Amino acid sequence: MGVPLLEVRNLSVNYITMRGVVKALDRVSFDLDENETIAVVGETGSGKSTIAKAIVRVLEENARITGGEVIFEGVDVLKLSEEEFRRNYRWVKVAMVPQGSMNSLNPVLRVVDQMIEPLVLRGVPKVDAIKIAGEALESVGLPKDTLNRYPHQLSGGMKQRVIIAMAIQARPKLVILDEPTSALDVMTQANIMNLLKRLKREFKLSYIFITHDLALASELADKVLVLYAGRVAELGSADLVYTDPKHPYTQGLMTSVPTLREDKKLSFIPGEVPSLINPPSGCRFHPRCPYVMDICRREDPPMIDLKDGRKVACWLYH
Ligand SMILES: Nc1ncnc2c1ncn2[C@@H]1O[C@H](COP(=O)(O)OP(=O)(O)OP(=O)(O)O)[C@@H](O)[C@H]1O
Ligand SMILES: [Mg+2]
Repeated sequence: MGVPLLEVRNLSVNYITMRGVVKALDRVSFDLDENETIAVVGETGSGKSTIAKAIVRVLEENARITGGEVIFEGVDVLKLSEEEFRRNYRWVKVAMVPQGSMNSLNPVLRVVDQMIEPLVLRGVPKVDAIKIAGEALESVGLPKDTLNRYPHQLSGGMKQRVIIAMAIQARPKLVILDEPTSALDVMTQANIMNLLKRLKREFKLSYIFITHDLALASELADKVLVLYAGRVAELGSADLVYTDPKHPYTQGLMTSVPTLREDKKLSFIPGEVPSLINPPSGCRFHPRCPYVMDICRREDPPMIDLKDGRKVACWLYH
């Protein structure tokens, strides 16, 4: 076994705000191999986008990485200079489809101008960049002349394909997809899921697939990381997590799958996502957990390694 493509080790991120310090990620760890997909699942505010932004180093100004490592092919990329990261990693080896990005295409720029920008910035001659962009569009099932369109001339599904083409055009090894289908109707969502599967095969991609939807996650992912209030609740093969969830929070997510499909708020797990400025003591899920015990209120749960290779952060399995 060689080194994994990506190792995230004890990653912790805070946001400094007027109201206090938001502890958005607390010691999050996972591995990802080449051509493997991990889904990151959790309710709104659980820290999913924060993981994505930390890996591609596009966290907002008020964010602080307070600990941990992001190791890409053996290199801790958090230690690199911005210049080196931009030259060799961002867009080159790891690309991101940011949350809501299909709706943030610049309305006054043609597709071609938006697509070639990251390439030209890296020194690719403009003619070559246009050729690369055109080919990337074809590989996501759009005609080359989409290059000359403006965003308003494209449907939602087409815009999302443009964004995906942008992400893959420099042939990265890892693509981070932050809720890539959540703004789309069910049919278009299914088409995009099929496209992602095909691109993964064709270009031997690894994905970090971020979603609210555990069912969608299990469709694409080899493994699933369930995030709750900035901490890993459960991590394991997609089949196991989906068919036999162990953490009470994952179990709650499972029963709310139909609701999640429609991208509504969770109603099946009573209570609210906790404040990350003053998170609950002990297990952050304890105020909402149907199996809560005394120790859960007092002490952080240990990360338990189950026999089936899964990890679950819960006192029930201690
Ligand atoms: N720039 C910021 N400044 C302050 N707080 C932030 C900032 N960005 C995110 N947060 C907070 O950090 C926590 C994690 O946010 P994050 O966007 O990572 O969650 P998420 O799981 O992606 O949620 P969603 O499903 O709504 O996209 C939330 O409490 C959020 O309010
Ligand atoms: Mg998000």
